Amino acid sequence: MKVSLSLAALGLLAACHEAAAAVHTVRLKKTRETPEETLQRLANTGSYVAQKYFGSGSAAQLGALQGQVVPLNADGSAAFGVPISNFMNAQYYGEIDIGTPPQTFGVVFDTGSSNLWVPSAECSSIACFFHRKYDHSQSSSYAKNGTDFAIRYGTGSLEGYLSQDTLTVGDIAVEAQQFAEATKEPGLTFAFGRFDGIFGLGYDTISVKGVVPPFYHMVNRKLVDEPVFSFYLSDTANGDDGEMILGGYNSEHFEGDLKWAKVRRRGYWEVDLEAVQFGDDEIAMSNTGAAIDTGSSLLVLPTTLADMLNKKIGAKKNFAGQYTLDCASVPTLPPFSLTFGGVKYTLDASDYVLNVQGQCISGFMGMDIPEPLGPIWIIGDVFLRKFYTVYDLGNDRVGFAKSR
Ligand SMILES: *[C@@H]1O[C@H](CO)[C@@H](O)[C@H](O)[C@H]1NC(C)=O
Repeated sequence: MKVSLSLAALGLLAACHEAAAAVHTVRLKKTRETPEETLQRLANTGSYVAQKYFGSGSAAQLGALQGQVVPLNADGSAAFGVPISNFMNAQYYGEIDIGTPPQTFGVVFDTGSSNLWVPSAECSSIACFFHRKYDHSQSSSYAKNGTDFAIRYGTGSLEGYLSQDTLTVGDIAVEAQQFAEATKEPGLTFAFGRFDGIFGLGYDTISVKGVVPPFYHMVNRKLVDEPVFSFYLSDTANGDDGEMILGGYNSEHFEGDLKWAKVRRRGYWEVDLEAVQFGDDEIAMSNTGAAIDTGSSLLVLPTTLADMLNKKIGAKKNFAGQYTLDCASVPTLPPFSLTFGGVKYTLDASDYVLNVQGQCISGFMGMDIPEPLGPIWIIGDVFLRKFYTVYDLGNDRVGFAKSR
């Protein structure tokens, strides 16, 4: 009797373990854009990235990690910004539910920021008019918090407050997740973005108001098997445009073994960029970071290098500030490689040049991100479409392998 009971108990434990061991898949879709919208999104990369990486105090927050002075608000709180800049700059998004019964939102899963926010039902800005809005009065699992949340953004600001509710993503229910509901969203930039909100997957060190990011709750409450998530941003057999795995990775979607690079600074998913190669020219880099950013479209690098590369590929700046080149030259252009963790990752010209319905745009964008955050490169979709990436929060490292 006793034995059979413990066997039953063991069976139960095994079943529980299996359930917990399951990885959770989140389907990703690409926004359906007209060529004009794609060109506009790419042209806007600069301002989005600027806002995200050194606007509104993001760099200041990292400065705080390094014991440097952080600007303070009137109430003495740290003047950190939320990196919402890439609102329209990512192309891949997925769905989440908030509340009971569930209210559904399309969000960018963004490794370059650390907060979750969605538009509020109380928002009357034009931008909110075009998006799904969270109505806490319709949710039985809502709990009030009310702490103000404001993000300076260009000429206006995104304003709102913190709330708490059940979040469901990839079949994982996270109870009492704090997030921001935006009651005011500035400008037309937001109005025409295709996503309702942002789901930050960066480190908690850059989370505005110290809100615990959703993935941290999943790990702490053992809702995922491993403290790991991963991204595949290419077309899948079932017609999705990509997938995010919570709690592990999907080896069906990469070739060979994952190779790891250590996170050099916990904030963004930032690794050391050890070397860069274009054709036969290789440059060793020193003290340069590379933020692996699922919320950005292009490769963002210091202007001197971007100018040099764009010149070498014959890209010229057009009236919109984009570097365009003759598509006919693409097959003749040399490969471009980045080295992380001692491994060289190579992009062909057909990877680093984007063909937007016959118009060819360089994937290299120049931007000088100042110290203490910089020098830092931002590694967006141009790279992530070719390489599967794994974000290991338990071991502070990023894994790479060629996608398939
Ligand atoms: C609201 O959330 C913040 C951030 O987690 C927390 O510090 C604060 O105590 C909360 N306030 C209320 C009234 O629950």
